[in-house]
Amino acid sequence: MATNPSTSRGTWNTKLGFILAAAGSAVGLGNIWRFPTETASNGGAAFLIVYLVCVLLIGLPVMIAELSIGRSSKKNPVGAFRALSNNKFFPLVGIWGVLCGVMILSFYTIIAGWTFSHVFVEIFTYTGMDGAASLLSDFGNGYVNAIFALLFMGLTITIIRGGVSDGIEKATKFMMPLLILILLIMTVFVLFQPGASEGLRVYLMPDFSMVTTDLVLAALGQAFFSLSLGMGALITYGSYLSKKENIVEAASYVTLADVGIAFLAGLLIMPTIFLAQAQGVQIYDADGSFLAGPALIFQILPQLFAQIGGILGLIIGVSFFFLLSLAALTSTISLLEVPTSYVIDEHGVSRKKAALYVGLFVLTISMVISFNTGLIDNIDYIFSVIGLPLGGLLICIFIGYFWKTQSAVDEMKNGFKDIRDSWFTALWSIFIKFICPIIIIIILAQTIFG
Ligand code: TRP
Repeated sequence: MATNPSTSRGTWNTKLGFILAAAGSAVGLGNIWRFPTETASNGGAAFLIVYLVCVLLIGLPVMIAELSIGRSSKKNPVGAFRALSNNKFFPLVGIWGVLCGVMILSFYTIIAGWTFSHVFVEIFTYTGMDGAASLLSDFGNGYVNAIFALLFMGLTITIIRGGVSDGIEKATKFMMPLLILILLIMTVFVLFQPGASEGLRVYLMPDFSMVTTDLVLAALGQAFFSLSLGMGALITYGSYLSKKENIVEAASYVTLADVGIAFLAGLLIMPTIFLAQAQGVQIYDADGSFLAGPALIFQILPQLFAQIGGILGLIIGVSFFFLLSLAALTSTISLLEVPTSYVIDEHGVSRKKAALYVGLFVLTISMVISFNTGLIDNIDYIFSVIGLPLGGLLICIFIGYFWKTQSAVDEMKNGFKDIRDSWFTALWSIFIKFICPIIIIIILAQTIFG
């Protein structure tokens, strides 16, 4: 509905709608699956603390930067860099962002498909249809992977085709509160189980001897991935934001929501793992390291749900995988929106067609990955572990040395009148020009050459 007639770009209807959509993009498998296991394998609260420092020192300033670029240019990442500077290099950064979006989405949909298929696995297990349950939980089966990836992508495309306010905003406004509610209920339930305290102890007692360069790398990567930074998702979402809104405040809410939900997910998952262990489920692998990744979510937790048993086990199991599917869907939406908005803006294609074509293109790559799931780790490494911080670095350099921090501050002034005289602008500018790029360069260099 809320389409701006002069540019025919969509706009967010309400500030809350925007914050929920951006928080929906941020909150995903990264929070509920990756964050708790990273924490568990990296010294518990020690990782949590380093992660929080990365979020505050790098994540939040870069998020404000992306939103300013987006709202000022009112363009997709490629068009945005072109609109704000004559430099010929930076539109390539936008293209890199679009490519990262496509590639991350191509494997994210498959994992999202697993979370969705496990809603059915729980039901089949409960009803004694063991054959169907084990068919769906076999990740080596390319056909099953492909079918659920297709389902998930279909849902994502349908929402994106609805547009910014009638599609993305409406869907996330409904899904995010539901997600928070399910997460809260499940967390409270788990925390009251006898034996939950062991997991809480591991989660909340920092073991600082574990702080190594690897841990810092993991924490920075997690911050970029979890906040959806570095590939222009927030440039795109910012391009639909009204000049009335306060970017700094909005970015703070989104960051708070993301960190809050990750923390809450830790309160749910960590005790759950130890509850499972108390029930005899294996949680460490042969070399004594923590079973992370797919094993944790798709093997350990279902075993626990089965041991709880009965209708209660079913309800918990189904809710958990439904929760994960919701979180994943609000994230795949943002991943698809970036290349879609690029095709709409730069190639003059209608939204409905663009969403369909881009979605089908991504799905083609997903089909290949479905039959070769070993590719996931490699694609993740290139396009998220390296790709996102690299994008973030280039965004900082663009603002700091080409578009200029002053132009960004002028943009932030819309919706935040006092900002020009505040200490915040000086501090933010120093972060974007020096602190963020230097930290990212050091960490990237360690990742690549270390
Ligand atoms: N932030 C999401 C998560 O935590 C993943 C995601 C969605 C993402 N959009 C993104 C990551 C854009 C990087 C860039 O699961």
